[in-house]
Amino acid sequence: MGQFAFITGIFGQDSRFLTKHLLDKNYTVYGMMRRSSKLSAMQDFIKDFGDKVKLRYGDMTDPSSIRKILAEAEPDEVYNLAAQSDVRVSFDIPEYTAEVNATGVVDLISAMREIVPQAKLYQASTSECFGRSKPPQNETSIFQPTSPYGTAKLHAYWEVRNAREGYNMFACNGLLFNHESEYRGENFVTRKITSSIARIVKGKQQCLSLGNLDAKRDWGSAQDFVKAMWMMLQHDKPDDYVVATGIAHTVREFLEMVLQCSGISYWHECSSDPLEEKYYNSKTGKVIVKIDPSFYRPVEVDYLLGDSTKIRNTLGWEPEVTLEQLVSIMYKHDFEVQ
Ligand SMILES: NC(=O)c1ccc[n+]([C@@H]2O[C@H](COP(=O)([O-])OP(=O)(O)OC[C@H]3O[C@@H](n4cnc5c(N)ncnc54)[C@H](OP(=O)(O)O)[C@@H]3O)[C@@H](O)[C@H]2O)c1
Repeated sequence: MGQFAFITGIFGQDSRFLTKHLLDKNYTVYGMMRRSSKLSAMQDFIKDFGDKVKLRYGDMTDPSSIRKILAEAEPDEVYNLAAQSDVRVSFDIPEYTAEVNATGVVDLISAMREIVPQAKLYQASTSECFGRSKPPQNETSIFQPTSPYGTAKLHAYWEVRNAREGYNMFACNGLLFNHESEYRGENFVTRKITSSIARIVKGKQQCLSLGNLDAKRDWGSAQDFVKAMWMMLQHDKPDDYVVATGIAHTVREFLEMVLQCSGISYWHECSSDPLEEKYYNSKTGKVIVKIDPSFYRPVEVDYLLGDSTKIRNTLGWEPEVTLEQLVSIMYKHDFEVQ
């Protein structure tokens, strides 16, 4: 008989890869979905796994739903991946973001202590907790979050640490830097770029509008990063780990990698005013990428670069997929589905 896991936010990008990883290891996976979740997308994915994946309705803002699933599943491991995960949107809905990403975690911990005190907890913490902290950021860097998303996640981070130190819970924070895949939401800049460029190549879209092209991010592969989540819970003692590739690129560099992958022949108009920067299709002369200031965040995080020495040395985790490979996987997928 394998182990039981409970994943919140089962329809998210990471959950998809984590579910597959756990099923390969003979786990039974309980997944929490919302009433509004797109069931059809997940059904295709889980149809081959029979009753090894059990979907249950619930919401991070409804503690009674979490308790009910915990009592039924009696999980060995809980992966809290549910979140209002869009940093830009968190400025528009800060209170809701805090309710899901912070208060939801307080409720989850309290329910676990009561119902499954021996279960291990993985909390999806984030590099956004570091915000403007000097790169490269590691477990000893100071936290300087600059968004409602980052502050709510930092609240949750400390709740997890306190549960570990105060109540002896096996609770870990994974401070994950950006990680992407073909299942990333289209509102995130990487997927927005790959899907829009695929549509432009197919003549279904004229132009792509982006925000700050100078933002630097340490992008890894979601498939690699979910392995780190699982490894944290297999270690003999709970701890917090930075998970990152250690290589940063600008949004501009990511865009140019996708343009090269697409085969579009383009030229780039630089300007001292970032709002005037443009990319043109050299064959048609049309603008294919322009800047729209509405995509800028009220407070920008300029540079995130992770130092994941601790997890590499302690747990032996290593990223395998390069950014070039990731861009190619994402673009090819989007070209096929557009
Ligand atoms: N991807 C990254 O680069 C990254 C980096 C660091 C940390 N993280 C964190 O890691 C986790 C997984 O990331 P991801 O990229 O897989 O995110 P994602 O694709 O946006 O998935 C988030 C999931 O949370 C669910 N959710 C949202 N609000 C909820 C609520 N009130 N109650 C229950 N479920 C709710 C969503 O449900 P619906 O399907 O119904 O919308 C979605 O399935 C998130 O907590 C994210 O903040 C991600």
